[in-house]
Amino acid sequence: MKRIITYGTFDLLHYGHINLLRRARALGDYLIVALSTDEFNWNMKHKKCWFSYDERKLLLEAIRYVDLVIQETCWEQKITDVEKYQVDTFVIGDDWAGKFDFLKEKCQVVYLPRTPEISSTKIKEGLKENEG
Ligand code: CTP
Repeated sequence: MKRIITYGTFDLLHYGHINLLRRARALGDYLIVALSTDEFNWNMKHKKCWFSYDERKLLLEAIRYVDLVIQETCWEQKITDVEKYQVDTFVIGDDWAGKFDFLKEKCQVVYLPRTPEISSTKIKEGLKENEG
């Protein structure tokens, strides 16, 4: 069984996320998504989520490509997650290209091309404009 892991916020789930998850899962047999908690997003990524952690988790768990959702609470957990979940491949969008190469001593590292144009930030901006 080949295990894949990916990390992210996945707020306001959109087709760019689905494209990423589909291609990540296709690299193996079991996909783990480490989903940023609201605290981690706010304190470390300076992002305020539209949907709460539990809402974002519910959406991800409904996706056929996702086998397990775990919490991402700090930057440093990646090495221990790879060991704990016996991960073969770490996957993330290429907006992070090169940033996680240090994991190569533990597993394969793959940066997938982002889907152009769409992002949670863009959707959030549209929603805020509509709120007036
Ligand atoms: N992703 C992607 N294509 C997009 C948007 C996101 O492939 N158009 C990928 C990211 O590279 C990452 C994962 O989806 O691997 C989760 O990204 P996340 O940061 O949660 O989504 P964004 O839409 O980029 O959110 P934000 O605008 O808040 O940065």
